[in-house]
Amino acid sequence: MLQCGDEVLGVMGEYLFPYVWGVSHIQLSSMLDSEVSSLLCVPVVSRATGQVVALACAFNKQGGQRHTEADEHKIQHCFCYTSTVLTSTLAFQKEQKLKVECQALLQVAKNLFTHLDDVSVLLQEIIVEARNLSDAEICSVFLLDQVSHELVAKVFDGGVVSDDEEFRIPADQGIAGHVAMTGQILNIKDAYSHPLFYRGVDDSTGFRTRNILCFPIKDENNEVIGVAELVNKTNGPWFNRFDEDLATAFSIYCGISIAHSLLYKKVHEAQFRSHLANEMMMYHMKVSEQEVAQLLETGLEPVDEIHPLFAEFTYTPRSLPDDNTPMGILSMFEDMGFINTYKIDLHTLARFCLMVKKGYRDPPYHNWTHAFSVSHFCYLLYKNLGLANYLENIEIFALFVSCMCHDLDHRGTNNSFQVASQSVLAALYSSEGSVMERHHFAQAIAILNTHGCNIFDKFSRKDYQRMLDLIRDIILATDLAHHLRIFPDLQRMADAGYNPRNQTHRSLLLCLLMTSCDLSDQTKGWKTTRKIAELIYKEFFSQGDLEKAMGNRPSEMMDREKAYIPELQISFMEHIAMPIYKLLSELLPGASELYERVATNRVQWTKVSHKFTVRGLPSNNSLDFLDEEYELLQSQG
Ligand SMILES: *[C@@H]1O[C@H](CO)[C@@H](O)[C@H](O)[C@H]1NC(C)=O
Ligand SMILES: *[C@@H]1O[C@H](CO)[C@@H](O)[C@H](O)[C@H]1NC(C)=O
Ligand SMILES: *[C@@H]1O[C@H](CO)[C@@H](O)[C@H](O)[C@H]1NC(C)=O
Ligand SMILES: *[C@@H]1O[C@H](CO)[C@@H](O)[C@H](O)[C@H]1NC(C)=O
Ligand SMILES: *[C@@H]1O[C@H](CO)[C@@H](O)[C@H](O)[C@H]1NC(C)=O
Ligand SMILES: [Zn+2]
Repeated sequence: MLQCGDEVLGVMGEYLFPYVWGVSHIQLSSMLDSEVSSLLCVPVVSRATGQVVALACAFNKQGGQRHTEADEHKIQHCFCYTSTVLTSTLAFQKEQKLKVECQALLQVAKNLFTHLDDVSVLLQEIIVEARNLSDAEICSVFLLDQVSHELVAKVFDGGVVSDDEEFRIPADQGIAGHVAMTGQILNIKDAYSHPLFYRGVDDSTGFRTRNILCFPIKDENNEVIGVAELVNKTNGPWFNRFDEDLATAFSIYCGISIAHSLLYKKVHEAQFRSHLANEMMMYHMKVSEQEVAQLLETGLEPVDEIHPLFAEFTYTPRSLPDDNTPMGILSMFEDMGFINTYKIDLHTLARFCLMVKKGYRDPPYHNWTHAFSVSHFCYLLYKNLGLANYLENIEIFALFVSCMCHDLDHRGTNNSFQVASQSVLAALYSSEGSVMERHHFAQAIAILNTHGCNIFDKFSRKDYQRMLDLIRDIILATDLAHHLRIFPDLQRMADAGYNPRNQTHRSLLLCLLMTSCDLSDQTKGWKTTRKIAELIYKEFFSQGDLEKAMGNRPSEMMDREKAYIPELQISFMEHIAMPIYKLLSELLPGASELYERVATNRVQWTKVSHKFTVRGLPSNNSLDFLDEEYELLQSQG
């Protein structure tokens, strides 16, 4: 092209200056494969912008010692006409390069989601991409082990390092260590002349490290979690600005990926553990086809054949024999029209009910009998208070199913106990609060997911999602802590007037109805209230005993040596139960008789309080003796 020199080296754009001014004579000679004896560099100026866009270099003047001024002019003259083509070509190249870079980053983003399950594979994909883009010969990634304070090789030259062959280096030594400590990118042009470079590895492997681009990988909090190294630039003397920018971009991607991958792994493990436990549970809970057939053998029993007063507030569902409760549930489903409306398959429904029943353990209070009586109270609300005027049908359906499932797999201990005893449930759910309630919901879902148990399987996708969301919200509302949190909102709603077209109102009402069902034993006669107190304190005291065995001091109501039952009951009724039914009667006028009965029971506790001389439960574990007093009072009344 040019006659002024033998050979021409045209280097453009960003590479321009480092190439010419930074390259030593020896390096230049070796790059060109011949001794450089003379060199002429002429800037190429863009006619459009007046900027230097290239540098044309000619060297080894043929037949002369030096390049002359005439040579310089010739070159300038030559580029005078070509610089426009040159700049547009350069722009095109730059665009191409950006495009490749974008594609690579997109590839990384894609990998982010496909390889979330294995951080090493993910890193390998990312770093190979970085190596390809920066034209490095070798790439490696080290993760920082905060405990041992070492850098652990995870990916080496594009391959994943398996756990048994992993190697570790101290986190504060060498180039990687320096980057890990400072969090700054390090671009080393000549490794051997760098004070931090350790030649030992090269000497033992026979490799020759020319240059290194070493960059930190940081997490979302800008903490260094690892270091990546690219070694030996292949298409240039060393890593340039473009490579540094690339490294910075990759560093961010790597950080996000690793953080997400680790998180994913944690969640995945937790899911796996709970899945495993559930499988075991489901296995033991298996409902046989024989049981299902037996339940359906004689058809659905009409509710008034179960008991003439089955649909009255005064009926005590706890008096129904345990064996009749599954049919009781089916009859209520039928009477509320759910089976027809939602086209529920009877076998599926029967299997679901039997599964739910089996999903309960046998603590004194929180067993299936409780779940059945809570569900029955929901039915009572439907029959006596015209719930259909206040809620959508699907919401009532959700409420009823939630009642059945709301204490699934209860172990007779409360949320604080799960956390204090570091139970598996606490490990799974404590970060979100309402540990037990989340577990009850998870169990309900597990049952629905069991083959042949999904009573919602004919729902549209949208209704199905709605149903599960409702059940989750309603079950979570059984945590009394939740109730106390929303109480002011409930009060405001009652004061302002209930509006069935307001979604917020309906959600709030559902929570209140659920709590009313949960505590509905208090709305029955004194005998029920008394019996329930006995069961609840039995359960509380066994938790207290466990806490004592763990070396903790139980709260007064859990401590059989300290609890004074009448006082605790009065406090519970005044502060929790009565306000609930009071609110309910403000919202649903027909509910005032419920409030009256709770209030009467509270008065009864005050009356028998003087007779109650023990702390904890009496030695025979029964509060029956309080009945004498009751009968006496009745006969006087
Ligand atoms: C990297 O480049 C090599 C060779 O060009 C190619 O075979 C490989 O698929 C590339 N890897 C990725 C992840 O793009
Ligand atoms: C780095 O480049 C040099 C010179 O091109 C080569 O001899 C050496 O083997 C390379 N090192 C590695 C680790 O690839
Ligand atoms: C629940 O507990 C009560 C009292 O301990 C007991 O009478 C009842 O039979 C239990 N119910 C079930 C289904 O185990
Ligand atoms: C629904 O009720 C809430 C709470 O009372 C209120 O803030 C909101 O404005 C109501 N929305 C509509 C659409 O009336
Ligand atoms: C749960 O048990 C703990 C430990 O005895 C007790 O301090 C706490 O008050 C109990 N919580 C409820 C809501 O009953
Ligand atoms: Zn409950």
